[in-house]
Amino acid sequence: MSPRLRLPRLGGSTLLTVSLVLLAAVIFLADTVTNLEIAVAVFYVAIVLLSVRYLDRSRVVMVASGCMALTVLSFFLTRTGSESAGVVNCAISLAAIGVTAYLALRTAAAEATAREAQMQLAHITRVTVLGELTASIAHELNQPLAAIVINGNAALRWLGAQPANLEEAGRAAERIVRDADRASALIARLRALTKRTSAKSAWLDINQLVEDTLTLVQSETGRKNVSLRTELAVDLPRVEVDPVQIQQVILNLIVNALEAVGGPGVLARDVVVVTGLGKSSEVVVNVRDSGRGLSGVPLDQIFDAFYTTKPDGLGMGLAISRSIVESHGGRIWAEPGMPSGATFSFSLPAGKKGNVMVSSYRKPKR
Ligand SMILES: Nc1ncnc2c1ncn2[C@@H]1O[C@H](COP(=O)(O)OP(=O)(O)OP(=O)(O)O)[C@@H](O)[C@H]1O
Ligand SMILES: [Mg+2]
Repeated sequence: MSPRLRLPRLGGSTLLTVSLVLLAAVIFLADTVTNLEIAVAVFYVAIVLLSVRYLDRSRVVMVASGCMALTVLSFFLTRTGSESAGVVNCAISLAAIGVTAYLALRTAAAEATAREAQMQLAHITRVTVLGELTASIAHELNQPLAAIVINGNAALRWLGAQPANLEEAGRAAERIVRDADRASALIARLRALTKRTSAKSAWLDINQLVEDTLTLVQSETGRKNVSLRTELAVDLPRVEVDPVQIQQVILNLIVNALEAVGGPGVLARDVVVVTGLGKSSEVVVNVRDSGRGLSGVPLDQIFDAFYTTKPDGLGMGLAISRSIVESHGGRIWAEPGMPSGATFSFSLPAGKKGNVMVSSYRKPKR
């Protein structure tokens, strides 16, 4: 696959700092050279709003304080205009900067809480579904398995008798095969049941789905100081998917990547989500990280249910992701990253370019 467009998404803190400083310098100069009656300093609110989007709370407070200090400094340096108008304008600008910072921080905190709740809900749903599924599998399989054990013991007894009763042993073996068939039919029914839940499909742009999913982990990446970027190929064909389920897959892979780069001894904390066109016109999504990598991790077991190396892990994220991707006709796989870390990828069968979106799917609100 060949990503053609490289978009820096999150992180890029140097670029952001340079942009904010340049913008502040322009506003400061304009505020100082224009006379006191023109309140150029209110434009500092743009800097505060930008910083709320990308920086943490304490840095936003620092940025807002810096803007206020520049406003006051500019008032003292400005030589022209009415001083009383200047005092009023300066007060208005200071109030605007302060109030904007306060309100924007409150909104950002509320959004972060909502996202946190959403992630917790996804986790709880998974645990609940898992519990229910386990109970129903245990319940349904118990009967044929118990019968297999009874018939197995009976067959052993008939074979161990003197002389061995081959006819009865053969009948017991037939009953074992019948019960094993019943157990396997039950499992097939359960699988069909889980597949039927992916009926809500729509033709979607995978890039949009990736972007929407990243908003859910934005606060987490900020907190863990992880740079999360995207490299999204342009002009990809649409894919016919259940958006909620595919978002769950992308989220599982990103959460694993964040956990992998957040571990001890990991120097670079980079996660990149890449989209592109694979062989035989599949759409492929890679989640690459610079984390602790896959050495010592058995790649053939990693997608199995309950496989985990984390003390508080369930070992269900990749298993659920595989089941979702396969029910969409796609594949999922893992590879060691280059030069370090891991790459988890999945593919989905692509539709024609520009398939009409027939979705009732709504973008999550930011
Ligand atoms: N990006 C990664 N880098 C290194 N190892 C990984 C990565 N992603 C997954 N793994 C390994 O695969 C295992 C299984 O992952 P999976 O998501 O299924 O379960 P989990 O993360 O341990 O727990 P949970 O299902 O609760 O999220 C992990 O415990 C880890 O050992
Ligand atoms: Mg996981």
